[in-house]
Amino acid sequence: MRSKQPDPYTLPFILDGVRIEPRILPLVPEISLFLMQDEYPDERLQQVDYQRLMEAPPYWAFCWGGGQALARWILDHPDLVRGRSVVDFGAGSGVAGIAAAKAGADQVLCVDIDGDALVACNRNAQLNEVSVQTARVMAPAPGDLLLAADVCYEDKGFSGVVNHLLAGGDVIVAESRLRDLSERFPQLRLASHYQVRTLPDLDESENYDLVHIFCAYQDPKKP
Ligand SMILES: C[S@@+](CC[C@H](N)C(=O)[O-])C[C@H]1O[C@@H](n2cnc3c(N)ncnc32)[C@H](O)[C@@H]1O
Repeated sequence: MRSKQPDPYTLPFILDGVRIEPRILPLVPEISLFLMQDEYPDERLQQVDYQRLMEAPPYWAFCWGGGQALARWILDHPDLVRGRSVVDFGAGSGVAGIAAAKAGADQVLCVDIDGDALVACNRNAQLNEVSVQTARVMAPAPGDLLLAADVCYEDKGFSGVVNHLLAGGDVIVAESRLRDLSERFPQLRLASHYQVRTLPDLDESENYDLVHIFCAYQDPKKP
């Protein structure tokens, strides 16, 4: 008898009472994602479950301000990705990679250390009728365009971006937490900003609603 393989498109279970359903992104209505519903965080969750959720958050079940802003920037500037090989680093739901695929990227690789996030990336790509590849670690070629939305708060996230820049690659970074990336790495030029909250709303400080887009391209004529 053949053993049953896990379905790569079945979304991971989080907790009883936590519903994951398709949601349209207000800033990016071209994209829908499987995300948690608004009633989370919910006092109906048992304290022990709530704590477990907070200790190992399913990042992929939220769309962070950075991801929404980066998706908006890409869909409004499709020339940046058209025909290119794109890596969405710290992909979570895969929102930035899905935007790149929709905007005409040749191929998209969604990278996340969380295996559940990779399942969500595939499922969300399917929902948006695009295709992406997934991987837990990244080894981008210098010609790849690296997208990094709300992942530079981790040292490893920031060093992934810097290493790609040092290898001569292009990057677009969106950050709701860090404002000083241009000071930390002057090649990262501030290109734009958006006012947007994580979906569903995590009730975080309004300081995180202002998301900055930083870009570094080998071609100085790009926006
Ligand atoms: C705050 S979430 C942002 C998700 C998505 N980019 C967005 O904007 O909605 C950060 C994501 O980065 C992933 N991550 C953190 N460190 C990583 C690393 N070193 N390599 C790959 N992924 C990483 C986490 O698992 C998580 O899914």
